[in-house]
Amino acid sequence: DSAESINTDIITMSRFILEKQRTNAKHATGDFTLLLNSLQFAFKFISQTIRRAELVNLIGLAGASNSTGDQQKKLDVLGDEIFINAMKASGNVKVLVSEEQEDLIVFPANHGTYAVCCDPIDGSSNLDAGVSVGTIVSLFRLQPGSTGTIADVLRNGLEMVGACYAMYGASTHLMLTTGDGVDGFTLDTQLGEFILTYPNLSMPLEYPIYSINEGNSLYWDERIQTFINDLKKPQEMLNGKPYSARYIGSMVADVHRTLLYGGLFAYPCDRKNKNGKLRLLYEAFPMAFLVEQAGGRAVNDRGERILELTPRHIHDKSSIWLGSSYEVDRYLKHIDKN
Ligand code: AHG
Ligand code: MN
Ligand code: MN
Ligand code: MN
Repeated sequence: DSAESINTDIITMSRFILEKQRTNAKHATGDFTLLLNSLQFAFKFISQTIRRAELVNLIGLAGASNSTGDQQKKLDVLGDEIFINAMKASGNVKVLVSEEQEDLIVFPANHGTYAVCCDPIDGSSNLDAGVSVGTIVSLFRLQPGSTGTIADVLRNGLEMVGACYAMYGASTHLMLTTGDGVDGFTLDTQLGEFILTYPNLSMPLEYPIYSINEGNSLYWDERIQTFINDLKKPQEMLNGKPYSARYIGSMVADVHRTLLYGGLFAYPCDRKNKNGKLRLLYEAFPMAFLVEQAGGRAVNDRGERILELTPRHIHDKSSIWLGSSYEVDRYLKHIDKN
C-alpha cells in the first residue's frame, strides 16, 4: 500500500503505559510499568509456545490434576511455569496465585509491592482442537506494611488495581484496565510489540447474543431455565427474532466477543457445581473489572455485584452473569420478580 497509509507513529503498549504513567499518579512510581512489561513478556512467550505446541508434541494431558480438580494439560503446566518465572524475574511481584498451584507462591527475594492472580491457560479443554484460549490476570497492591501473605490476595474485588487478559486467537489480543477505562492491543509478531488497537473501549449497551453451556440446563435453578428460555422466544425489540446462542467454552474468548459485540455471558451455579465453576480471583474478578470498565455489568446468580465479593479461599468459585448492561439488568429484573 502507498506510503501515506503506513502509520509511522504507532503506539506500542510500552509507550502507552509510559504515557499513562506520566498522567496517572496512581502508577507514577514506574513499578506498575515494570509489572505490565513483565506481563506483556509472559503473554508473548505463552502465545508463541501455544502456536508451536502441535509441532513439538506439546498438546495433550500432563497426567496430573490441579486443586480445583481440572486435569492439567501439558500447556497448563508450561504456561504456569512461564508465568511464574516472568513474575519472579519482574522483581516487583511479591505473591502469586495461580490456578495450577494449590498454594500461594511468595517470592522472598522480591521486594515487590504487587500481588498477582492468574489463570495461565484459560479454556485449556479447547487447546487440542486449536480453539482460542487465553491467560487471565488480576492485580492487587500488597496490604500496607505487608511482607506478602495470604491476606494480600483474599481481597474484596474493589481493591483490584488492574486486570487484563491475553487471547491467543487468529491474532493475539490483550485487553487491559487499570481502573480508568479499557484499552485493547494486538500483538504485531514481526515487531514483538502489542500495538494499541482499541483505545478506551466501551462495549455495546445491548446485543441479542446469549452465551451459556446449555448442557447444564437440567441442573440449573428453575428461574434460570425460565430466563434463558425467554431469550429463545420472539423478541419484540428484535422484530420477532429470538436471541442467538454463541458458546466457545473458553471464558476468555466468550468474554472477548462480549466486550466487542455486546450480549450476555453466564456460568450459573448448578446441582453439579454448587458454587459455579469459574474461579473468583483469576476468572470472575478480572473479567468483571474489565466488563464494568467498558460500561457493562457483572453479577452472580443472586444479583450481587461480583466486584463486591471477597474470596475465603484462593480457589473459591462464583457464579457469574456478565455483559451488556441491558441484558444483565434484564436478568436482575427477572430474579427480582421471581
Ligand atoms: P480453565 O481452562 O482455565 O480451567 O477454564 C475453563 C473454564 C472457562 O474457560 C470456560 O468458560 C468454562 O471453563 C467452560 O466450562 P464448561 O466446559 O463446563 O462449559
Ligand atoms: Mn483448568
Ligand atoms: Mn479458566
Ligand atoms: Mn486455566
